[in-house]
Amino acid sequence: MRQCGEGIVLIGFMGSGKSAVGRTLAERLGLPRVDTDELVQKQFNLEIPEIFKRFGEDGFRDAENAILEALSPSGRTVLVTGGGSIMRRENVELLRRLGVIVHLFADEAVLFARVLRQNNRPLLRTPNPRATLRELCAVRAPLYRNAADLEFDTSHRSVNEIAELIIQELGMLRMEIR
Ligand code: S3P
Repeated sequence: MRQCGEGIVLIGFMGSGKSAVGRTLAERLGLPRVDTDELVQKQFNLEIPEIFKRFGEDGFRDAENAILEALSPSGRTVLVTGGGSIMRRENVELLRRLGVIVHLFADEAVLFARVLRQNNRPLLRTPNPRATLRELCAVRAPLYRNAADLEFDTSHRSVNEIAELIIQELGMLRMEIR
């Protein structure tokens, strides 16, 4: 195990289930939940698509990075990250400090069906979002894999099932999380 913090850090592509699983995990374990997307939005007082529009992806990523830097490794937290946080290598080191890195992944078709339910992902607002998703997945897959301590396929599992699996697996890693 490479982690040094005591938290649980969820990484994964848009639509992989990080937010829903993070909420359930935090509830089940009685831990505070921190969601970097929520913090970035609070900081700008804007929704993510508007942040991308006004400040570009770089502006969003700078804020995301500053938030990760400011998080304390001493707190036992469920951290939900934005899908692109691993695009900056320094972020992966910051995440590692915060706890066990859990990668949630799913089949591309499942991811696409999930992201279609909301229209809040500026990176997928392209003429062919399905192709964009495929391209982003191809670039990012190795980055998620390299960063991860644990990986779970969320394609055909409920949020509760995934949370349960994570808790079991972490228990086996002898993290005292209860
Ligand atoms: C992004 C994912 C989003 C959000 C932003 C950028 C990405 O978070 O951070 O739109 O680059 O994959 P979710 O993974 O929660 O959708």
